[in-house]
Amino acid sequence: MNDDSRAVAENFDYSVEGFSATEPSPVAVNPVPEIPEYLQDTYWWAYLHPKSFYFFEREWVVNLILWGNMKRLTAAVLDEMTVESNSRVLQVACVYGDFSNRVADHLSKTGSKLDVLDVAPIQIDNVRKKLERHQNVAAHLQDSTAMAFPDDSFDETVVFFLLHEQPEYARRKTVEEAIRVTRPGGKVIFVDYHGPKRSNPMRYVMKPILTWLEPFAMDLWREELPAFFPESVKPEQLDSEFYFGGLYQKIVLSL
Ligand SMILES: C[S@@+](CC[C@H](N)C(=O)[O-])C[C@H]1O[C@@H](n2cnc3c(N)ncnc32)[C@H](O)[C@@H]1O
Repeated sequence: MNDDSRAVAENFDYSVEGFSATEPSPVAVNPVPEIPEYLQDTYWWAYLHPKSFYFFEREWVVNLILWGNMKRLTAAVLDEMTVESNSRVLQVACVYGDFSNRVADHLSKTGSKLDVLDVAPIQIDNVRKKLERHQNVAAHLQDSTAMAFPDDSFDETVVFFLLHEQPEYARRKTVEEAIRVTRPGGKVIFVDYHGPKRSNPMRYVMKPILTWLEPFAMDLWREELPAFFPESVKPEQLDSEFYFGGLYQKIVLSL
């Protein structure tokens, strides 16, 4: 952690926001989770350095990184959210741009609530400011591989472009935790990179970029995402959709 992000961590409000006594609340207020090594070593410049927000925290930048597909991939998540009134949805890890604002707006139509977690205090600080106009949002400092929520806390859970950034052990734990905190009958929605078709020229552009900047991402080219799911997940529980010549995927796990 550099000095600026350490200062944010030291001044951070670790209390849990946005819960009333009638809602299921986290098991306990977390002991402060450690920033995982892979995040410090590989992604400090994108998520931990205060200057990263000046560059990345803009919808057009995120859209550029996703080759113009941000709106489409956000819509793919919203289309999937068949939330009933007063539902509770978890977003695992912060996302730059308008993604969380759109999810919060979408959920507000049914009086539903969005909980966002992230392991980096500086990200939680930023998301609290970014989403402050919403009455239906709470942000939590938690590690996706060891969440503090009780089993079955959420109706739906969304994991948007996190798994390709995690090494395999953390990816598997994140998937297990996302399943654990989502109720039977609920859904877990994953959107992430995928190995594109051979005929897709983006394959030859993205392979060197991902290999250079995102060392764990190539796992999702070599293997289908469900290869990292627990054995208890059956193929008939999964629905897949692919976008942009197969460079992106949405996998919906029905529990
Ligand atoms: C969702 S991912 C990538 C999202 C996408 N590339 C974007 O535009 O922001 C980035 C976030 O994941 C968070 N993150 C990484 N590992 C985590 C973990 N183990 N637990 C919780 N959050 C984590 C980082 O702190 C960062 O805020």
